[in-house]
Amino acid sequence: MCGIVGYVGHRQAQDVIMDGLKRLEYRGYDSAGIVVTGDPELDVVKRAGKLSVLSDVLKTTPLKGNLGLGHTRWATHGKPNDVNAHPHLSEDSKLAVIHNGIIENYLPLKERLVEAGHVFLSETDTEVLVHLIEENYEGDLYAAVQKSLSEVTGAYALVVSHADHDLIVAARNTSPMVLGIGDGENFVASDVPALLPYTKEVIFLHDGDLVLITNDGVTISDFAGNVIDREVSTVEWDAEAAEKGGFEHYMLKEMYEQPAVIQQTLGGRLAGNGMDVQLDIGLDPNSIDRVIIAAAGTASYAGMVGEYLIEKLARLPVEVEVASEFRYRDPVVDERTLCIVVSQSGETIDTLEALREAKRGGAKTLGIINSKGSTITREVDDTIYIHAGPEIGVASTKAYMTMLAAFELLGIWLGRARGTLADADAKELIAALRQTPKLIEEALKNRDEVAKIAEQFKNYKDYLFLGRGINFPSALEGALKLKEISYIHAEAYATGEMKHGPIALIDDQMPVVAIATASPLYEKTVSNIQEVKARDGIVIAIANDGDTEIEKHADYVLRVPETHELISPLVNVIPLQMLAYETANRLELDVDQPRNLAKSVTVE
Ligand code: G6P
Repeated sequence: MCGIVGYVGHRQAQDVIMDGLKRLEYRGYDSAGIVVTGDPELDVVKRAGKLSVLSDVLKTTPLKGNLGLGHTRWATHGKPNDVNAHPHLSEDSKLAVIHNGIIENYLPLKERLVEAGHVFLSETDTEVLVHLIEENYEGDLYAAVQKSLSEVTGAYALVVSHADHDLIVAARNTSPMVLGIGDGENFVASDVPALLPYTKEVIFLHDGDLVLITNDGVTISDFAGNVIDREVSTVEWDAEAAEKGGFEHYMLKEMYEQPAVIQQTLGGRLAGNGMDVQLDIGLDPNSIDRVIIAAAGTASYAGMVGEYLIEKLARLPVEVEVASEFRYRDPVVDERTLCIVVSQSGETIDTLEALREAKRGGAKTLGIINSKGSTITREVDDTIYIHAGPEIGVASTKAYMTMLAAFELLGIWLGRARGTLADADAKELIAALRQTPKLIEEALKNRDEVAKIAEQFKNYKDYLFLGRGINFPSALEGALKLKEISYIHAEAYATGEMKHGPIALIDDQMPVVAIATASPLYEKTVSNIQEVKARDGIVIAIANDGDTEIEKHADYVLRVPETHELISPLVNVIPLQMLAYETANRLELDVDQPRNLAKSVTVE
């Protein structure tokens, strides 16, 4: 959500910034802008729409200079138009401000500043920062930002430049920001991919960090000005891993990466005895008697699969909470509660705040996270990294897959440690888990079959997804994927619940995707499919290779290889991801950057 890139060094700032913003496009945005410190003034271009609109302008009038800031804006306060786009400039056009987040007290500040004679041009909350810093500026930009922040409440990642200084001042409170350390050049960005072509040495900023960036160094202090020594980390991802690699879309590439990335999640964690799991976490499994899983979007559906796994394997009661609700409802949490937060980005504000709420209640905490160095990883007791590599497509695929794999590992680990998972059952599960990369690869081969279904139903207005047991979350994820990228209305229901409401919707205009893979409830699922057929519904079944029975009941069958029921969500999600992808692609929609969505949601 919003992207920031700042640069000071020996290169043309415009090139670094535009390249960096392009690499942050996945975060979601609806306008973009850039400011470069020229001679003697700041040069600014801002445009509503995609980065290509901004690029076209810059092709004819390039901005020259070695210091600059760029931004992709995801609108919160004020429409996505040229005026509201960042950067915002002071009235003398010397000061430029770019901001991610929300300034919560912007209205009283604005009133005060207007009374003092400041003229506001935009509808944004951000613009108060420009006028505030301008008012506090007496020749020292760092001091002006520092003083201004003491008056501001809210969430921000902020970068500021001034025509008279060869430096950038940055500040962070809640919204993520990372510094890139170069040789005679330095960078600041919302996320690592923007930095990868230039440096792998990074410093993840913490809340309350105020930074002075010049071409030959960065100085981090707290808001009171006390210098802080922050660790420099080396990023393992390379720039290529964050590129499309010949695929038409990031989402497609990331789907095809799933067999490989799940091996990274499992790798080194399955013990040589074939029945145990090694997790490098300090949690005492017998010190908890309850688990809460808090997450948002796709990660919350991974959490629902986790609920089934942990309850079944470790006999611990589990509740899955939508993070944005959990944090506000005074939840019952104590020191025998384990709160697991699940997040690809490690920055989702709702999930982060849910974690903080659980900590206030004394809970032990564990993160299932992709991004190393992210805010959540710094605040949890332990992290299980999912090792999915950079996920750029807004619609999550490989992160979901590896979150599921992490829950498989955690369920087995807890079950073994608590004595609730017998040797033979653990062996069977781990043997099946070892087979999953191969099975996922098999499932990916059925793309043509899925594409035919997508073609046939791409203009339908509604879809229903059904699944039960551990595959109810698979149905929810299938519906979410379709909604997110094809904008087709899709609902998911627990198969047995369909007769209690959604059955009223069934007609020949409502394709029903029913997950009917091997399970003790297979027969019941078939009966539910018949209930759909009896009402002229269209049934697309997800069924195992070799299941001939299903053909008698479903209109169409999408095949997946059979596996252990507890592992089946990892395989069953493949045709669901593919259906969403093939449908959106046929509708000529922007698969990787669907409208209104952001990859990393850092505002409430
Ligand atoms: C946004 C994205 C979703 C994602 C959710 C949680 O809403 O659009 O695709 O599932 O955030 O993101 P996280 O980074 O916490 O997994």
